[in-house]
Amino acid sequence: MRANTWHGKNDVRVEEKPDPTIIDSRDAIVRVTLTAICGSDLHIYDGFIPSMESGDIIGHEFMGEIVAIGSDVKNRAVGDRVVVSFTMSCGVCFFCARGLFSVCERSNQNAELAAALWGHSPAGLFGYSHLLGGYAGGQAEYVRVPFADVGTVKVPESLTDEQVLFLSDIFPTGYMAAENCNIERGDTVAIWGCGPVGQFAIRSAFMLGAGKVIAIDRVPERLQMARDGGAETIDYTTVDRINEALKELTAGRGPDSCMDAVGMEAHAPGAEGFIDRAKQFVKLETDRPAVLRDVILSVRNGGSVSVPGVYGGFVDSFPMGSFVNRGLTMKSGQTHVQRYFAPLLARIEAGEIDPSFVITHRLALEDAPNGFKTFKEQKDECIKVVMKP
Ligand SMILES: NC(=O)c1ccc[n+]([C@@H]2O[C@H](COP(=O)([O-])OP(=O)(O)OC[C@H]3O[C@@H](n4cnc5c(N)ncnc54)[C@H](O)[C@@H]3O)[C@@H](O)[C@H]2O)c1
Ligand SMILES: [Zn+2]
Ligand SMILES: [Zn+2]
Repeated sequence: MRANTWHGKNDVRVEEKPDPTIIDSRDAIVRVTLTAICGSDLHIYDGFIPSMESGDIIGHEFMGEIVAIGSDVKNRAVGDRVVVSFTMSCGVCFFCARGLFSVCERSNQNAELAAALWGHSPAGLFGYSHLLGGYAGGQAEYVRVPFADVGTVKVPESLTDEQVLFLSDIFPTGYMAAENCNIERGDTVAIWGCGPVGQFAIRSAFMLGAGKVIAIDRVPERLQMARDGGAETIDYTTVDRINEALKELTAGRGPDSCMDAVGMEAHAPGAEGFIDRAKQFVKLETDRPAVLRDVILSVRNGGSVSVPGVYGGFVDSFPMGSFVNRGLTMKSGQTHVQRYFAPLLARIEAGEIDPSFVITHRLALEDAPNGFKTFKEQKDECIKVVMKP
């Protein structure tokens, strides 16, 4: 089969790879009909995710048709059209039983590697390093899907691939990130990052009762898409201090909740950005937390901080004093996707949202290298790339 593989920083190639086969009785093999590039894939592309190996198949947002199935997958059949969760979960362990699917204790086959770095291991993910299981990803013609009975959702023929694909990740991610804001009706939510995750977070915050959403980025077309979703916007390059700008919009108090939908590769203008890059270079920190600092300093006293943005290792100059003394709450995590399959599919079917609004680029899988470059460099007004094998 053809698959998009990682070979080092800024180097992905579409290559011939062996077709996957059923290994476990809860596996399914999915013939991919549509796949996408996620902001999380850029952290791999940029060389920030440890334990990647040359030739690894990447990609974790995908859907398609089941073409083979293990004997213990009772609720799916060959021919079913499904979207696949990017987090792999057994459905029955201590964590899955509590709905904490992205920290399933059975799905990371390299759990000891992750535990050595993070203290405990989270779930395995598709196409996201050996630390997270070393599973082949979804930017491919075929994928082996472990725990297929729990990790897939059947989608109705009335909806197109483009309308349902993002149930795999970014729609649930934006929605869970909005839930993690602990929104009360009428609240003001500030969201850093108007990439695909930020876009779904904006729309989800309104679904959950926000009165006002303030979206922050510097890319004009992303800010425009945020306004199309009902947000007010700030181009952070035009203000001196973002927390002062936010105070002005919130009667001097600060937003009720603040979200970091940017993660470990945040841009930071001026000295802060320079110092973070220098610290990263000498390995004083692995991640650049400029937005994480901003969200903590900006949220109102007693407010909530939600962090869907991905971090991999260690950050420096974390404003712990502000966090403690002002009584803040912070929630984060890879998304518990399986929790959101049914309710968010229902919202799409009801016409409350059409997730395909975020797609700007439609490519063939063979064009993946070009897709990665265009998405990373935010060229040609690129916001979200989908690819057909
Ligand atoms: N928690 C999860 O399960 C999960 C799932 C999917 C994605 N993610 C993460 O969410 C983050 C966003 O993903 P995406 O697909 O939207 O990526 P993206 O790279 O398209 O979006 C990031 C956006 O942040 C903006 N940005 C950079 N620095 C900024 C700053 N200082 N202030 C404001 N905006 C700034 C960029 O211009 C860009 O528009 C990534 O870190 C990704 O890894 C997490
Ligand atoms: Zn993702
Ligand atoms: Zn589990």
